[in-house]
Amino acid sequence: MRLVSLTLRNFRNYPRLELELAPQLNVFLGRNAQGKTNLLESVAILALSSSPRARRESELIGPLAAEATVEASVERHGRPLEMAMRISSEGDRTSKMIRVNGAPRRAVDLPGELQATLFWPEDLSLVKGGPEHRRRFLNELLVQVEPGYGRALAAYRRVLEQRNHLLKRISAGQAEAAQLEVWDEELIRLTAVIGSSREEAVRELGPLAAANQAAISPGERLDVAYAGPPPDFAQALATARSEDLRRGSTGLGPHRDDLVIRIGEQEARSFASQGQQRTAVVSLKLAESDLIERRSGERPVLLLDDVLSELDAARRAALLAQVGSGGQVIVTSVEAEPFPASLIELARVLCIEAGQVSPCG
Ligand SMILES: Nc1ncnc2c1ncn2[C@@H]1O[C@H](COP(=O)(O)OP(=O)(O)O)[C@@H](O)[C@H]1O
Ligand SMILES: [Mg+2]
Repeated sequence: MRLVSLTLRNFRNYPRLELELAPQLNVFLGRNAQGKTNLLESVAILALSSSPRARRESELIGPLAAEATVEASVERHGRPLEMAMRISSEGDRTSKMIRVNGAPRRAVDLPGELQATLFWPEDLSLVKGGPEHRRRFLNELLVQVEPGYGRALAAYRRVLEQRNHLLKRISAGQAEAAQLEVWDEELIRLTAVIGSSREEAVRELGPLAAANQAAISPGERLDVAYAGPPPDFAQALATARSEDLRRGSTGLGPHRDDLVIRIGEQEARSFASQGQQRTAVVSLKLAESDLIERRSGERPVLLLDDVLSELDAARRAALLAQVGSGGQVIVTSVEAEPFPASLIELARVLCIEAGQVSPCG
C-alpha cells in the first residue's frame, strides 16, 4: 500500500499543496506550528474518514474559502486508486463529499481503502492514559480491516444516545419504561457485533505486540487482553436498568471497553516504568500495522508524527525498521537528528514552513 501523491487545497494552514511521495521513506522537517501534523492528519482523514484530532470538522477548513479538499493517488495491490474528499461548511453545518475512483462514497464506508497506521505524541498515553485511548486504538484499527465495523459503531453510538435520552425522559415521568425494549434489543445486537470484532482483533494483536516488545526489549513479556462487556450482556443490561434510570445513562456496553496491558504479571498502566510503557506503545502500534498487513496482504502506510525524538535508540530503530520491509513510512520531525545517515540517504527529505513544502536548505 502506498501513497503516490497528495493534493491539499485550503486545508488548515495549506493554501495549496501538491506532493509526490517516495515509495519508502519520506521525511518532513519543520519547526513547531508549521504544518507537520496537519499534513499527516490529512492522510489520516482519508484512511479513517474523520480527523483523529479535530473536535469539529470545520477546523479543517482554511481561511481562503468555505471548503477544503484532500485528494490522493494511492497504489493498492499494484492498482491505482483515486480518493477525494471535500469538506465544506455552510453556516454552522459542515458536510463531507467523498469520491473513490470518481464514485461517491459514504464516509462510514471509506476506511479500508487507504490503510494507514498513525503514531503521534498523543499515542504515548495509550498505555497509561484512560480507556478511551485504547478504545480509539481498537476502533481505528477495526474500521480499516473489518467491513461493517464502522457502520456498527456508528449505529451503536446513535442507539446509545437515544437510549440515554429515553432514560432521562422516563425518570422525569415523560415516557414509559417499556419503551426501552426496542433500544435494548438494538444495543444487545450491536454489542455482540462490536464485541466479537474487538475480541477477535485483540486475540490476533496480542502475539504480534508481544513479538514486537520482545524484539525491542528482549525478555519482556507483553500481554494484551480484551476487557469487554459481560458475557451475558442482555441479562446484565436488564439487571443494571434501575441504576441506568437513576443515572440517566447506560453503564454497560462497548463504550466502556478497555484493553488490559500487562508486562510480565503486572498491569503496565500502574506498574511499568515510563520506558517500558513507551516500548509497549511502540509494540502496539507496530502490531496494528502487522495486523492490517495480515488481514489485507499489504503493509499500511506508517505515519510517524514527531515521535522519534521522544523515543530511545532501540524503540526508534524498531519503528524505522519498517523502512525497507515493504511499507511506506512518512515521518515528521523538528530536527533531522534522530535519523541515521544511512536512512536519510534512502529518504525523500522536505522542509515545511508555514504551510509550504519545499526542498530543505
Ligand atoms: N483551519 C485552519 N486555518 C489556518 N491555519 C490553521 C488551521 N488549523 C490550524 N492552523 C494552523 O496550523 C498550524 C499548526 O500546524 P501543525 O501541523 O499542528 O504544526 P506542527 O508543525 O507543529 O505539527 C498553526 O499555525 C495553526 O494556526
Ligand atoms: Mg505537530
